[in-house]
Amino acid sequence: MGKFLVTGGTGVLGRVAVERLRAGGHEVRVLSRRAGAGTHVGDLVSGAGVGAAAAGVDAIVHAASNGRRFGNTDVAQTDTVIRAATEAGVGNLVYVSIVGIERIPFRYYRNKVACERRIVESGVPHTILRATQFHELIASALFAAGRLPITPLPLDFRFQPVAAAEVAVRTAELATGTPLGFAPDFGGPEVLTLRELIDIWRQVHARPRVVPMPLPGRIAKGFRAGFNTCPEHTDGTLSWADYVRTAVRDPYAAEK
Ligand SMILES: NC(=O)c1ccc[n+]([C@@H]2O[C@H](COP(=O)([O-])OP(=O)(O)OC[C@H]3O[C@@H](n4cnc5c(N)ncnc54)[C@H](OP(=O)(O)O)[C@@H]3O)[C@@H](O)[C@H]2O)c1
Repeated sequence: MGKFLVTGGTGVLGRVAVERLRAGGHEVRVLSRRAGAGTHVGDLVSGAGVGAAAAGVDAIVHAASNGRRFGNTDVAQTDTVIRAATEAGVGNLVYVSIVGIERIPFRYYRNKVACERRIVESGVPHTILRATQFHELIASALFAAGRLPITPLPLDFRFQPVAAAEVAVRTAELATGTPLGFAPDFGGPEVLTLRELIDIWRQVHARPRVVPMPLPGRIAKGFRAGFNTCPEHTDGTLSWADYVRTAVRDPYAAEK
């Protein structure tokens, strides 16, 4: 059985990846900045505690990210992971990334592209798994929008949402395998516009009330064109409609 370190193992995807690896009989360390939240306390920005957490592991799953701040520390965090992976001599560094990021010039995505590049150029054996937006992320945005009287939203944006747990299962599977470089993209079962996603959501939830917001620019163009989707990879099986029926609270609430 292998030894793994999961960064971001306290997050929405990471928690399930940890469970999955443990269910497979592996020893799993979970890095967290918060004492008691994981098995090892460490901070990927300062680097404190990370080398000790990674010492002796066979593979690292890097699922930590500062998404709420557009990934402004993600490159530094990834550099820390690469250093620790190199020192530990890991056989596989699995990085969770996002579909289409090089085609949409959104700040968070630019940082993710830079992280991918650092990993590819590091010489560390690696696997990069790009997934589409999680059901949980869209639900979180809709719970937030629901707190406003009415919310202008770009209803023509396209998404192919996927259950974070299904991406987590794939992530765990990749971590136990041989390094693939770029793994095939991982997408949800269907591509829907934001209007369609909200129509389905509103069958269950009273809010949000929305109006269309026309957005100019290349970022909006990218989401309208669905550059963030991969219709040729409909891997996830849990539909948005089925997910919505189970969504009772913001899955990211604890982190806000
Ligand atoms: N959300 C989506 O729709 C989506 C889609 C495709 C890919 N992804 C990618 O999947 C990965 C996981 O996303 P998620 O939404 O599951 O994440 P999340 O729930 O927001 O969790 C973020 C994690 O990062 C950790 N973290 C942040 N800064 C850290 C630091 N300085 N040192 C150590 N740990 C730190 C946090 O740990 P502590 O707070 O415990 O320290 C937390 O576990 C990310 O790389 C994301 O880009 C997300």
